[in-house]
Parts: sequence; structure tokens; C-alpha cells
Amino acid sequence: MVLSDEAEEPLVLPTTSYPPSSPRSKRRPTTNWFTTSRRRIVIYIGGAALVIFILHQAFGRRWTTSDPAWGMPPGPESAYGGPVVAGNQANPTDDCRPALGYPTIQEVTETWPLDRLQHMVDETKGYYARDYSLWLGWNNIRYIIEAGLLQAGLLNRTLIVPSFVYARQCEFGLDVCAAFVEMVNRGDAIGWDEWRQWPIEKQMGWKIPIGMMIDLNHLRETHAVVTMAEYLRLRGLSPDLEKGNGQWSDDTYKLHSRAIPNNRWDPSGVVRVEQQRSPFVLDESNPDSLAAFEARDRVKEKIEEMMQGHSQNVLDWEFVQQAIRSFGLDDDDIKIELFLRAGGFEVLHTYQGARGFDLIKSVVTPIKQVARMSEVHGIIDDFGSWTDEVVHLEGEVHLYRKPGNLRFTSVANLQFFTRTVLYNLRSLPEVSALADRVDQRMKERTDGRMWSAAHVRRGDFVTYGWTENSLEKHIEIVKKKLSRAPSVWNDIRNGQQAHTFDIPDAHLNPAMFEGQIPQNDDPFYIATDERDPAALDYIRSQGGVLIMDLLKPEDRNIVGWPLLITDILALAEQHVMARAAFFNGYAASSVAGGVLNLRAVNGWDPRTTNVE
Ligand SMILES: *[C@@H]1O[C@H](CO)[C@@H](O)[C@H](O)[C@H]1NC(C)=O
Repeated sequence: MVLSDEAEEPLVLPTTSYPPSSPRSKRRPTTNWFTTSRRRIVIYIGGAALVIFILHQAFGRRWTTSDPAWGMPPGPESAYGGPVVAGNQANPTDDCRPALGYPTIQEVTETWPLDRLQHMVDETKGYYARDYSLWLGWNNIRYIIEAGLLQAGLLNRTLIVPSFVYARQCEFGLDVCAAFVEMVNRGDAIGWDEWRQWPIEKQMGWKIPIGMMIDLNHLRETHAVVTMAEYLRLRGLSPDLEKGNGQWSDDTYKLHSRAIPNNRWDPSGVVRVEQQRSPFVLDESNPDSLAAFEARDRVKEKIEEMMQGHSQNVLDWEFVQQAIRSFGLDDDDIKIELFLRAGGFEVLHTYQGARGFDLIKSVVTPIKQVARMSEVHGIIDDFGSWTDEVVHLEGEVHLYRKPGNLRFTSVANLQFFTRTVLYNLRSLPEVSALADRVDQRMKERTDGRMWSAAHVRRGDFVTYGWTENSLEKHIEIVKKKLSRAPSVWNDIRNGQQAHTFDIPDAHLNPAMFEGQIPQNDDPFYIATDERDPAALDYIRSQGGVLIMDLLKPEDRNIVGWPLLITDILALAEQHVMARAAFFNGYAASSVAGGVLNLRAVNGWDPRTTNVE
């Protein structure tokens, strides 16, 4: 088992080469590269590059034209960002749409004209830039963008996102994808040498416009956001200046930004939140307040003892709740909070990780935690008064952090972020339309019954050292997990009533009541990064159905050529798994976090989702 879907690349950012050296290394691959087969590929790529160049000249401008080719959604009326408030957000995504009748991806990715962008920016105090770790896979980039949207919103600033991300894999030959999308050597693009010893196909990446991964027009209904290319154009600079490694640079972008130093974010002794609350004030007319005030020293002693005993400066709520029972408070959360605050502690809101990790960064299970008030620092308090045009969060604050890279003192702000992630930042409509079609195709295989899905992460290390046995075992485990589907569903129908995840604007999926329950011998959907034909055949022999078995040409045409890129196919598969009546995934996988979020939006009962 791997810890992350990013396992093929360093999960921990290499300290030696971070930030990636600039000017970027021009070191060419060493000669052992040029074995006969490699040379053939290199020549291939040379040819492909020429094709790309020509195609780009001919059609590439389509991506960057500022002339809107079709109707834009109504412009946002409300102010962008600012200290965020609940309510007044867009309605939940209607994620169950018909498959046809959508504009093509090219049309969706048309950008806003400059004056419209400028108007959006003018309603904020300036820009918020981050150093994007573009060497990570899409799910992790998405987490970083989600967090950036939150932070920019809190600071009343316009978030700058990268204009492109790098996809890693092509479903077919390199030349096929190269005919449609710009191919780059990721080492050159990012300025890293780490990948140079890899096979050439693995060094290559695909430069994917960000507007193909997220629905920017929809996002702009609720958030002020520009791509780096748009930012540069707004400043009268060439979009070509954009750095390939996602890092902000004052020199390159010809502007003196104000940095939030990385070590000011959450060094030891700092628990980062959105905004500090005012401290406890005794209200003598309130008996609870008086009792809390009187108990303050004992509460302080008790909680301090727990924190020191566990070497933790943040404690889970259940834990504190238990301890506080000794003060005769039962489980009255409001009173407990009062006692904690009188004792110098703050109650924080965040999301549950899985298996003790914060890798999945899903926002569907809110939890409370407790920290020392003196250690709680708000970004609004610390950076909110800055008036500089660009505020730039230096380096990465991605790993080992809660979703959003911070915790919340206010439930309203937590819910604002939940909405951002679940409803505002979404994939292009075509991707969910394709998933609807795949849902139908699966039902054709199960006599109309609902179906189960599992994510089977294999990874390169398994592929290369692959043995028939380990895959057998892997599939056996997955089948066992999925075999629980019928009984879970029978319980839901006959026992405890169906309920949703604890998210804003939740609605139960009608299939919770109407769908036919999956049966044990039914075929099941497997999303996997495995591409070895023998391995795939084995999965099929066990009852697994793969995306490539289901897609007919007319289905592929819903999304079109972007489906050639494995990363985009994988995104579609997340939406497919979000339509399964039962899902099994890995807690340590960023894929599962995305699926979990989508399943919550789709209104499945949490019991149908097994992430462990
Ligand atoms: C955000 O900043 C803009 C521009 O300074 C200002 O007009 C607006 O009132 C601010 N919004 C909030 C919510 O503070």
C-alpha cells in the first residue's frame, strides 16, 4: 500500500531542490538514454513537437482568446471574498444532468474579457498568489487551489491560479496525445532533474489548461480568481512570462509582492485559523459564565495536562468532552465551550482525516478540536490589513495540514469552505455528463440494478515488480469489501433510515429509496491505474468492469479528445465512482478524498462509502 497517489513522485518535497533551481537546469539526458528504442522515441517526440507547434499555431489561440464565444453566466453581483459569511452561496451543483447538449470543452474554457476581469479584481483589495507545487498530481493541486480560494476570500483578494497543470499520462501512444495537447518534458518545465533517469514516456507531461480541469466561469460566480496568464495580461505583460514551475517570482512578474513567509504560517506554537475570536469575558448575570469563570484554573490545569501528556497542542473534541465531564457538565457543548474559553482554550472547527492522516482532505465530516487560545493565530488578524497589490504565501503549506491549510473558529466560515469545495469548484459539466452515461452503461450490465465500485490503486512500483499473486490478493480483498453492499443496503432499507453526510445543502439521492439493491454476483466497477493487459484481463475475469470496457465512441465524444489524457479520464472516473451505490477506496489516497466529496454532494448515505 502506498501513502498517496503521488507516490510516483516525492511526497515530501525534496529540500535540496526546493524551490526548483532557477534558472532552470538545461542539463540534457546522459548518453545511456540513447539506446536504439529510446532514440526512436526521441525522434518520435521531435516529430510530435513539430506537429504540436503547427497545431498550436493553427488552433492554439482558441484557448487564449479573450472573446467570449457563447453566453457567459450572469456576472457576480455580490462582493468577492472578505471575511466570509455563510449563506448567499450558489445552490448545490445539479450533478445529475443529461449527457448531451453541452458546449464543447473548448467553448467552456473561453476566458473572460479583460475589462470584466478587471471589474472582478477591483472589488477586492488586490491579489493573493501562492507557490503551486505543479509537480503534484491533479487531486493535490486541487486541494491547494481550494485552500487558496479560502485564504484569498478571507483576505478579500483575488486568487491567482496557474494557467495550466501537468498531466502525466496518455492513454494511447505519446504521438496520439501530442497531436491534441502540448507535450512538455516535465523536468525542463519544472526545472527538476529528479525525473531524468526515468523512461522517456514517464518524463513527458501534458500541459493542460486549468480551464479544462475546473469550471472557471462557475467558480467566478462566487470567488474572485484569475489565471496567471490573465493576471499578466491585466498588467500589460506577456502571458508567456508565466513560470513553468508554478512558483511566484517578483523578478519574473516585475512586481514587489509582500510575502507571507512560509515559517509564519504555522510554526510550532502557532495553530493557524481564519480569525481569532475575542477572549472570554465574564458575564456576571449569566450563571454558566460565572461557573466557567470559577472553574477556569482547574480547566486550564486539566487540559494542559492532557496536551502535555500527548505532546499535542490540538486535542480532539471527544477527548476533551470526556475530561470535562468531571466538572459536571454532561455533554452540553455550549457549556463545555464556555468552560474551555474561560480556561484559555479555543474550540476549533475542521474536518476529519482518515486513518490518522490528513491526506484525503475531504470536507464531508466536520469535527471540533481544542487548542490554546494563545497559540491560535488568524490570517485575517495577521495579514488582513496589508494593502499591497500582491500578497504571496511563500512555499508550500500543503502536507500534514487540514483542508484549507487552517482550522476555523467559526462554523459559518467552515461551511463557506465546504461549499467552495463541494459546490463552487467543480469539474466541467461534460465530465459529469460522461459519468452519467457510464452509470447507465453499468446498469446495462446489472439488469438495471445499482452497482458497486472500487478504486484499485496499483502504481508503478507494483507494475514493474508485479506478480499475478499480489493482484489476485488485491482483487480478493476488494471483492470482499464490495460483497458488503447488499447487506448495507438492506440495513438502510429496513433499519436505520437513510441520512446524508453532514454538509450544507445536503439532499438525499432519490436512489436511496428507489434504486434496486446490488446483488453479490453483479459485475462491479473498478477504477485503476493498472494498464497491463494481462492484469486488466484478470480483473475482468473476477467480475470487474473497467472504464474502457464501457465507453462507446459516442460516450467518449461527450468529453472528446481530452479523454486521451489519463489524468482527465481518471477525473471522470472519480465522478463515476461518485455514482456507485457502494464505494470502496483507500484512506491514504487523494483520489478517495475527491470521490468522498462528490458522493456527499450526490446524496449517498455515508454507510455506502467505505474509505479505510
Ligand atoms: C473588499 O475590498 C474592496 C476593495 O477595497 C472593498 O470595496 C470591499 O468592500 C471589500 N469587501 C469586504 C467584504 O470587505
